[in-house]
Parts: sequence; C-alpha cells; structure tokens
Amino acid sequence: MKLPTDQFQKLEPIYRDQRVCVTGGAGFIGSHLVDALLALGATITVIDDLSNSTLDHIASLIELEPARVQFVQGSILDPDSLNDAVQNASVVFHLAALGSVPRSVEEPQRTWQVNATGTLRVLQAVREHGVQHLVNSSSSSIYGDAPELPKVESLLPMPVSPYAASKIAGEHLLSSWASTYGLNTINLRYFNIFGPRQPADSAYAAVVAAFAHALLAGNQPVIFGDGLQTRDFTFVSNAVLANLLAGASDEPFQGQAVNIGTGQRTSLLELAGIIAKLTGHPDIAPRHETVRAGDVPHSLAEISRARDLVGYEPIVGVEEGLKETIQWWQSQALESKS
Ligand SMILES: NC(=O)c1ccc[n+]([C@@H]2O[C@H](COP(=O)([O-])OP(=O)(O)OC[C@H]3O[C@@H](n4cnc5c(N)ncnc54)[C@H](O)[C@@H]3O)[C@@H](O)[C@H]2O)c1
Repeated sequence: MKLPTDQFQKLEPIYRDQRVCVTGGAGFIGSHLVDALLALGATITVIDDLSNSTLDHIASLIELEPARVQFVQGSILDPDSLNDAVQNASVVFHLAALGSVPRSVEEPQRTWQVNATGTLRVLQAVREHGVQHLVNSSSSSIYGDAPELPKVESLLPMPVSPYAASKIAGEHLLSSWASTYGLNTINLRYFNIFGPRQPADSAYAAVVAAFAHALLAGNQPVIFGDGLQTRDFTFVSNAVLANLLAGASDEPFQGQAVNIGTGQRTSLLELAGIIAKLTGHPDIAPRHETVRAGDVPHSLAEISRARDLVGYEPIVGVEEGLKETIQWWQSQALESKS
C-alpha cells in the first residue's frame, strides 16, 4: 500500500532510522504496517508465532532488507522472545492477537490468554525497556449490543463475545498502565478492516474475504442472518495510517480509545452485491444461514476523536478498497495457476 504524498512527507522524517516493533507483524494488518514502516525508513522487528499466518507476506522484505526487517518467531506470551523483539524500540505497535468472534466462542480461554494476558506481557516489556509509545489494536466489537449509532467512544462497552471481552480488557490494561506507570499508550478501535492478504480459507474468515473467495470460485457467499446487518467496512490502509499517526504523535496519550473506521456503513446484502459485480458474477445471490452467537447487528464509527487526537482521516473509501481487494484476489488466482 502507498501512503498519500502529504502523509508520507509528514511521517518520513519521524520514522526514518527509528527502531520499532510490530507484534503480529506477519499477519494481515501487521504485514501492511511493516511495508509502510519500511518505506518510511524505519528498522522493524516483527514478533509473531505464525499461529494465524505464514512468513509469506514479509519474507521478501526480510530477504531484501535483512538489516532493517528482523523476525522473531515466538509468542508474545514468551518473555524471552518478547524482550528480544521490544528492546531498543521507540514505538511498539501491538497487533498480535487471536481474532474472530466465532473462534473466541470455540476457544474462550486461549483467546483470553493471547489477547488479554498477552497484552499485559507486552505492557510489561514496554515498561521494562523504556519504550516511548505503545499503539494497541482494539476492536469495534467491544460496543457489542449497544443500540446507539454511530458508535462514540464515550459509550459504555457492552462486549457480547469472549473476543470482545478480551479486547476491552486489553484497553483497560493500557489505560491503567498509562495512569499507574506513566506509559504513553493508545487504543485504536478498528471497524471491520478488509483488504489484500486477509485470510479467506477458514471458518473464521472475515466477511469481505469470505465473500470474495466464494464469488471468485462461482459459489454463493453465505450470510448469517437476513443480511440487513450493517458494518463500517474499512480498507486496511486506513488502519495502517492510524497506527503510523498514533506512533508518530507528540501527544502524551493516556490509553484513550479511538475509533478507526470510515463513518460509512454498508449492509451485508449490499456488500455481497458489490463483490458479486466486481468478481463478474452479478447473478449469484447469497445463501442465508442462522445468525451466529456473538455477532452484533449494526456497527458504524464516529471518527471525530481520531481526527482530533491523531489527525486521522480515511484515505481509501469502501468501494475503492473493495476494487483493490478483488484485484488482489484475482492476481492471486492467476499466480496459483501459473
Ligand atoms: N481484521 C479486522 O477487521 C480487525 C478488527 C478489529 C481489530 N482487529 C485487531 O487487529 C489486530 C490484527 O488483526 P489481523 O486482522 O491482522 O489478524 P491476523 O490474525 O492476520 O494477525 C494477527 C497476527 O498475530 C499472530 N499471533 C497470534 N497469536 C500470537 C502470539 N501469541 N504471539 C505472537 N503472535 C501471535 C498471528 O500469527 C497473526 O500473524 C488484532 O489485534 C485484531 O484483534 C482486527
């Protein structure tokens, strides 16, 4: 992904020659963040246990720039691996987690261990190593069943899944470590991030990837429920920009939660229709199954706080992002044929 020129020019002098750490940097969002950091001149250490990814997305970067992209294969739950990854970093971007609401319903304890205890370990490492900034990846799922739209950060979180509970716990850890130990921490609440590299081949796949995967193969996408649920689908470059801005800020963040979305919502039926057209299958209608436990009806971000606190403005809208994502899926299909 490419940053707009004005953002690049603003961020490059800040990240050039900085040493940063990206937990979960082999994953979907993390690997795009690593790409951007490398382009900005940073030296990056990635820690990832590859439990939900492979080295594929960052292997070429490691090969190309071995001195500037280092990889620690290990868990954030393992203090030695974490210390190796965090030492000398000025910013830690914490993305390592077990995502997916349905997976958390199946594996609540493991979800808690990685997402909540793992975040605690990251905070302790950040503290021990005197890291200046910790930027945490949180989730809009923490709003749960709260009926208000759009979701404003001042709403009381109402987590309705083990995943959401683990994410709000992580947020509270960051804000309490900020007030107790004076750490500079911020929680970015992502709203349904999608884009190239998002995995599609499991029962836990996110909806855009699952729809694209099904439709490109000429199959019906599956919608759980009537499809009138809405989401603020946010292209991955927006999440990357939010991380870069937060990590570069001079503000003394104190664990605030900040929504990262676009402020536009799309129903699952609309989404299926758009992807059906983009994949050349406008005639394929979705198939409906019963609603899954932990799924929320509607989600839409109010992004004023992100604008005010970190200077965030979405750079890619949903339609443009979907086009780019489908093109990527098509290029992958061609590659696997050749
Ligand atoms: N994708 C979304 O729509 C979305 C929405 C809200 C929040 N988030 C959050 O953003 C972050 C990144 O999500 P993603 O979509 O890129 O998911 P992802 O699964 O692609 O990335 C997470 C990475 O963390 C790694 N990981 C898992 N457990 C680990 C451990 N114990 N130690 C080290 N690494 C570990 C995985 O192998 C993976 O590479 C996560 O914190 C997720 O909760 C994502």
